[in-house]
Amino acid sequence: MKVVKNICCIGAGYVGGPTMAVIALKNPHIKINVVDINPERIAAWNTDDLPIYEPGLLEVVKLARGKNLFYNTDIDSAIKEADMVFMSVNTPTKTYGVGKGRAADLKYIELCARQIARVALSDKIVVEKSTLPVRTAESIKAILAESSNGVKFQVLSNPEFLAEGTAINDLLNPDRVLIGGDQTSEGLDAIESLTSIYASWVPREKIIQTKLWSSELSKLTANAFLAQRISSINSLSALCEVTGADVDEVAFAIGSDTRIGSKFLKASVGFGGSCFQKDILNLVYLCEFFGLPEVAAYWDQVIIMNDYQKRRFANNIIQTLFNTISGKKIALLGWAFKKDTNDTRESPAIYVTDHLLTDMANVWVYDPKVPAKKMYDDLDYLETRESDKNRELLKVVADPYEACKNAHAIAVITEWDEFKDYDWQKIYDNMLKPAFIFDGRNILNQNKLERIGFKFYGIGKSFNN
Ligand code: UDX
Ligand code: ADP
Repeated sequence: MKVVKNICCIGAGYVGGPTMAVIALKNPHIKINVVDINPERIAAWNTDDLPIYEPGLLEVVKLARGKNLFYNTDIDSAIKEADMVFMSVNTPTKTYGVGKGRAADLKYIELCARQIARVALSDKIVVEKSTLPVRTAESIKAILAESSNGVKFQVLSNPEFLAEGTAINDLLNPDRVLIGGDQTSEGLDAIESLTSIYASWVPREKIIQTKLWSSELSKLTANAFLAQRISSINSLSALCEVTGADVDEVAFAIGSDTRIGSKFLKASVGFGGSCFQKDILNLVYLCEFFGLPEVAAYWDQVIIMNDYQKRRFANNIIQTLFNTISGKKIALLGWAFKKDTNDTRESPAIYVTDHLLTDMANVWVYDPKVPAKKMYDDLDYLETRESDKNRELLKVVADPYEACKNAHAIAVITEWDEFKDYDWQKIYDNMLKPAFIFDGRNILNQNKLERIGFKFYGIGKSFNN
């Protein structure tokens, strides 16, 4: 087994950044270069104002940075030095051409593979860290095989299961680490090299070794199953609202069955994030590609239900505000796709805001971690946007009380803990009446808010108004 002394990680984003920080912390004998084509991102990794917000990340980075963890833009040198190269670049959904809107855009991965093939002067283990369609390793191998330097490569799949907001804990205490590789002696050897890096802190029995294709497909499957649970409970939230059942009570009741389990049953305004939608669309595309339309349609329904939930939430606001929100101030609490992250990719906030702006509402947003520029950019990049107009009706403020002052309604989009502790009496006193509140996360105390005087609407809740 080759002992790895030097790692290069291409891509310093939400996956590569935290993952390499923890690997470096737990393997002080390995030198790790994290490289990126984005010089601003690299510069930020070298300060205490990291480019991504993740609880506990700065502490870990500070322990390893400058010792065995380095951030720079010299990609070629980092590849040359390395025994093992992680590819942690982004793989967004294609926005053009064949597979548009569904297939993963592999251009960044391919560029990475070509660069490795071009500059490598010694044998290397190449690790797919980004989530990829099953059989991507085949293309990567084909590109690497064209390396003119007589260098040999082993390709491994090592998908990352961390969730944003809890990344450091997920990395330090993973349920499992998955490593897929060729079942040849060279492939098994490479699997062992990577296993020994994780074994510095992860118990061996939690490190699962599989064939390449099983590993690639397991990542897509895990995300599809998790997202499916959310769409399932969200579909029932609509039924709860019309029947008088309470979705949180239903979730608790069914989640107490150990066969079902209690996690990922929190009804919401819809799931967001860079993975769930992208990975399911990717799965749907793969099924269609391999001639399995029924399987494709089955998984597509998870996305259809999620879109329905976001639309339903926005429409409910409009209907409840007497079918017109034009000129009305609506306060949005939260823009990130979940709490404890500044990531906004596919956040339901983007879709809800677009819907409200199209109906000419004045939307005032407060989020504790997301900068205003990101919000405007999100709206500009929205593929399905209903309107290019009305962006000037969006106002971003740094004080939640200012956002809610004189508002007709409040919509909670992200489950930030601080929202629970606001002075809701003060907020109510400063709002227009009737004061509506739409809790898209079911985090607020309905009884307390109703006692204050709010007209309260939760997801999957019966309305006492
Ligand atoms: C997900 C997977 O959990 C992780 O294993 C994978 O590596 C990447 O994708 P992430 O997208 O970071 O992680 O966050 P996650 O906690 O899974 O939440 C995704 C979305 O689902 C968020 O918008 C969240 O608010 C929503 N969600 C989650 C619900 O609406 N209800 C739930 O019960 C759980
Ligand atoms: P993820 O959530 O998968 O980590 P991010 O978008 O946060 O995705 O991070 C991916 C990073 O990969 C970005 O910082 C981007 O600049 C970087 N990147 C993309 N292509 C390349 C490349 N060819 N070489 C180096 N870095 C790249």
